[in-house]
Amino acid sequence: MKKMRVAIVGYGGMGGWHVKKLADSDVAEVAGIYDIDPAACEKAISRDIHVYASLEELLADTSVELVTVATPNDVHEEIAIAAMNAGKNVISEKPVTITMESLERMIEASERNGVRFSVHQNRRWDEDFLAMKALCQSGELGDVINIESRVHGSRGIPGDWRGMKKCGGGMLYDWGIHLIDQIHMIFGFNPKRVSCICDYITNSDCDDGFRLDIYFENNIRATVEVGTYNFINMPRWYLRAKGGSACMQGWKTPIDVVKCDKWQEKAVTPVETAAGLTKTMAPRDEFTTDAYQITPPKSDVHDYYRNFVRAIRGEEEQLITHDQMRTDLKVILAAFESAKTGKIVEL
Ligand SMILES: NC(=O)c1ccc[n+]([C@@H]2O[C@H](COP(=O)([O-])OP(=O)(O)OC[C@H]3O[C@@H](n4cnc5c(N)ncnc54)[C@H](O)[C@@H]3O)[C@@H](O)[C@H]2O)c1
Repeated sequence: MKKMRVAIVGYGGMGGWHVKKLADSDVAEVAGIYDIDPAACEKAISRDIHVYASLEELLADTSVELVTVATPNDVHEEIAIAAMNAGKNVISEKPVTITMESLERMIEASERNGVRFSVHQNRRWDEDFLAMKALCQSGELGDVINIESRVHGSRGIPGDWRGMKKCGGGMLYDWGIHLIDQIHMIFGFNPKRVSCICDYITNSDCDDGFRLDIYFENNIRATVEVGTYNFINMPRWYLRAKGGSACMQGWKTPIDVVKCDKWQEKAVTPVETAAGLTKTMAPRDEFTTDAYQITPPKSDVHDYYRNFVRAIRGEEEQLITHDQMRTDLKVILAAFESAKTGKIVEL
C-alpha cells in the first residue's frame, strides 16, 4: 500500500524524532518540515530533508495527507486548526493544547472539516507501562488498592519554553500528561477527584515537579509524581493489591512481585532496632509469600502511526480518542486548581 505523506511542523527535538521514526515506517513517509527558526531549517536541509518555505506552502502541498505538529505547546492549536482547515489530518504533540476551550476548538475543526485529529501519546507503547497495565488488569494480584507512578530527574526544568507558563511550560503539561494518560489506560477514563501539590524549586514561573493523587471508583488511588530535583530516584512503579505488592525500579527492569500466599504466620521474628522492637514491620518469610519477577513485554511504537494512518483510511478505530484527550487535559487543569487552592477537586 502507498505510504501516507506526512509533513512536520516544528523541527526541534521531537520533530526530529518523528522524522527519524517515519524513515522506517511501513505506513507513512516524510514529505518535509517547516520551522520558524532558520537554524532548524538549515539543520533539516543538511540532512537532506525537504524544507517548506512557509506553513502556507506546506499546507498547499496536495501530496500531504497528514500534518504532525511538534512545536511548543501554546501554538499547537493555531497550527493544527490551520492544517485541518486546509483538509489535512492532524497529530498534535502532547499535551494536545493547554486549555479545554482550545481543545474544543480543535475538535470542532476536525469535525467541521471531516478530518482526523489525535495526539501523540506515544508513551502508551512504553514497556514498563505495558507490564504494569497487564499486571493490574490480569487480576493476578487481586483488587488494586493503590498504584504509584514516578519519574525523577535531577536537572530541573529545561531552560527553554518549557520553563515559561505562557508557552504551556511546566512538568504537569510536559510529563504529567503521559503519566496521567497511562493511569487512565489502566483504570479507565473515569477519574472521580484529584488532589495535587506542585514544586517550584528551580523555576518560579511554572511547576518543575508535582505530586498528584487521582481517585477512581472502588477507592482505587493512583499517585503520579514527577520530580526534577531528585538526586536519588524512587522506583518507577509501586503497586499494592489485595493479593500482594509489586515494584518496578526503572524503565527497563523486570517487575518484582511478592504474592501473599498465607496471611497468617505461625511465628514472627521481631526486628530489633537501636531503640525498639517490632513484629508488625518485620519482613515476611518465604513460607507465606511467593516472590518472582515479570519480564516486560516487547512493544513497537510504529503502531502509533500505523493505527492513525489506518484510522484515516477507515480501516481501524482511532486508538487515542477525543474523549480521552478531554479527560487527560481535564485532570491536568483540575490538578492546577487543586495545587492553587489546596483542596481536593471533584471532576
Ligand atoms: N511525545 C513525546 O515523547 C515528546 C517528547 C518531547 C517533546 N514533546 C512535545 O513536542 C513538542 C515540541 O517539543 P520539542 O522538545 O521538540 O521542543 P523544541 O523546542 O526542541 O522544538 C520546537 C520547535 O518548534 C519550532 N517552532 C516554534 N514555534 C513554531 C511555529 N509557530 N511554527 C513552526 N515552528 C515553530 C521551534 O523553532 C523549534 O525548532 C512539545 O509539544 C512537547 O511537549 C513530546
